[in-house]
Amino acid sequence: MNLLFIGDVVGSPGRDMVKEYLPKLKEKFRPHFTIINGENAAGGKGITEKIYREFLGYGAQAVTLGNHAWDNREIFEFIDTAKNMVRPANFPEGTPGKGLAFFKVNELEVAVINLQGRTFMAPLDCPFRKADELVGIAKERTPFIFVDFHAEVTSEKQAMGWYLDGRVSAVVGTHTHVQTADSRVLPGGTGYLSDVGMTGPYDGILGVEREAVLKRFLTSMPVRFDVATGGRNQLSAVFIELDRKTGLTKKMIPILINDDHPFYT
Ligand SMILES: [Fe+2]
Repeated sequence: MNLLFIGDVVGSPGRDMVKEYLPKLKEKFRPHFTIINGENAAGGKGITEKIYREFLGYGAQAVTLGNHAWDNREIFEFIDTAKNMVRPANFPEGTPGKGLAFFKVNELEVAVINLQGRTFMAPLDCPFRKADELVGIAKERTPFIFVDFHAEVTSEKQAMGWYLDGRVSAVVGTHTHVQTADSRVLPGGTGYLSDVGMTGPYDGILGVEREAVLKRFLTSMPVRFDVATGGRNQLSAVFIELDRKTGLTKKMIPILINDDHPFYT
């Protein structure tokens, strides 16, 4: 079982990169299952039904979210019927959507769990205890369990990796928009990467127009953050090869495509 996970798609530049490179990545890596983090896919804020369907149309099977899940209000109109969408599981009780979903892949099944960190983020339910609960449920059905941990700090992400080592297939971080260089297979067999990185504008700051971000840093004045468009783009992802029997990771291959890291077939 091989997984491909594409990190935080930001606005139309990110969507264009998915459209252009997902078919090429599929041809090169032959993943059985593709997941996209789409929490910033609509103009950098949330996701719409059209974009969600667009991702499925490009060949993704699951779309994960994060702290920007509710930024586009259209989400409330379709999240409950969006079978392939997974939002952070440790959002408060009564929140629309789901934090764990199962997907048929030929005769096998993949479980996708989305969790959100709490350090320098909203005070949600404990992601570690929520992980215990959901991994317990998932394990009864399948050994193939993918966790997107949407968190700000590397310490919380590493803690989650070690906490779930040997219990899930992989723990991959999202949210910081910068790919980390620490992909590894932990001793218990769980694949780990602190952050997969961002898919979108290459010359902005985390995908946002840099003039606005610079103004904010230089003056502390309120500014409007828009997606940086019209420039160069990048795609960040990770390919994960899982053992067919145990569901544990055999190999992690981080993928970064931009002008400084060109794509090779
Ligand atoms: Fe985020």
